[in-house]
Amino acid sequence: MLRLLLGISVICSALLWAEAHNEHGEPAHCESLPDATIQADYMPGSITLDGHPEDWSNVDGFSFSLLPALDPDEENQYPGGRITVKALHDGSDVFFLLQVNGKYAYVNGDHSRCPSVALMFQVGEHATYHNMGACKESVKTCNKTTCRGHEVDIMHFAIGTAVPGRLYGGNTIDNTDGNGGDRFGHLVDLYSWNPHCRYLDGKGPSGNDSSAQNDWKGAWWHDSLNIHSGFVEEDSPYASADQNGAYYFEFSRPLRTMDHLQQDVQFVIGQSSKMAVAFWYPVDNRPWSGSQHYSAHCDWIPLDISLGSTNVHRGSSSSWDAANAFSLLLSVVAFCMSVFVGYWVRKSKSVPFTPIDHL
Ligand SMILES: *[C@@H]1O[C@H](CO)[C@@H](O)[C@H](O)[C@H]1NC(C)=O
Ligand SMILES: *[C@@H]1O[C@H](CO)[C@@H](O)[C@H](O)[C@H]1NC(C)=O
Repeated sequence: MLRLLLGISVICSALLWAEAHNEHGEPAHCESLPDATIQADYMPGSITLDGHPEDWSNVDGFSFSLLPALDPDEENQYPGGRITVKALHDGSDVFFLLQVNGKYAYVNGDHSRCPSVALMFQVGEHATYHNMGACKESVKTCNKTTCRGHEVDIMHFAIGTAVPGRLYGGNTIDNTDGNGGDRFGHLVDLYSWNPHCRYLDGKGPSGNDSSAQNDWKGAWWHDSLNIHSGFVEEDSPYASADQNGAYYFEFSRPLRTMDHLQQDVQFVIGQSSKMAVAFWYPVDNRPWSGSQHYSAHCDWIPLDISLGSTNVHRGSSSSWDAANAFSLLLSVVAFCMSVFVGYWVRKSKSVPFTPIDHL
């Protein structure tokens, strides 16, 4: 029964999102943001994937105003303010933190009465931000051949069934099924060619390929939640409604995945990828409908996966300096000791030699 309900809620949220993008016509006017870049520096061992933002305090992010995705009009921007996006990598995984102010809203099992976020990445070289890849085919004719080159990779986290601070996403049960689903927390790994042709990784119009995986993991948190030993579902709604604070959504994914279907973006250290950030919120306690999602920008945002060299050099040169200073200190000590030993030997020479057998 629970599974059925979860399944229905998953399908509903998918339909709602599809509906949002149904209404995309021609690209709306988009003010370019020349400075907008999400910089993922090499900072190994600094992030715990728990939804808590404290471990990100040394990482610079980029703040975006959240305008309606369909009609990026300043007047209708998200009333809670801007969204800050931070990223870093550890040489093997890439990590993201999304931070956005919003009064606490949570209804267990009802995604559209909770906030929700999605990340979208360009995979195919012709895939545009607008229309989620913008393959011109209809839902009846789109497939991996007719829409080749228009693939986008999507991660969508709808938190209505996710306990705050707990980890969701790729899990052994769904990954054994060989698709991008997440039956526990609805942190799913999708791909699309356009808003009508959007599938879980491994599923598609020309059949299912059971080699796919959900490669994402993530957790969420809100400032009004009190940290204690850990929430369980029975604690829902976890905090009282309408308290001020920020929501945090934290994610990780391997830089490279085992995808061979052109359904995952593959990151390269030292290169730039293109991404987008979407946000849903039940403004004024109204459940969000498909036409009400916000976007951090009205076009792709560059995501730079930095070479480790800058940090490594800095790190290694400072440790080299420390080693130098230490060896200098040692040599000074050694020099002083040799002077002292020389002095002591000289001094002890004045002591008359006493043959040992006379004792
Ligand atoms: C893709 O769709 C086209 C046109 O509908 C069809 O001819 C082709 O066989 C399909 N390819 C696959 C792999 O399903
Ligand atoms: C693929 O999976 C979906 C959902 O599990 C199912 O409805 C569909 O029948 C499957 N398609 C094929 C060709 O096996």
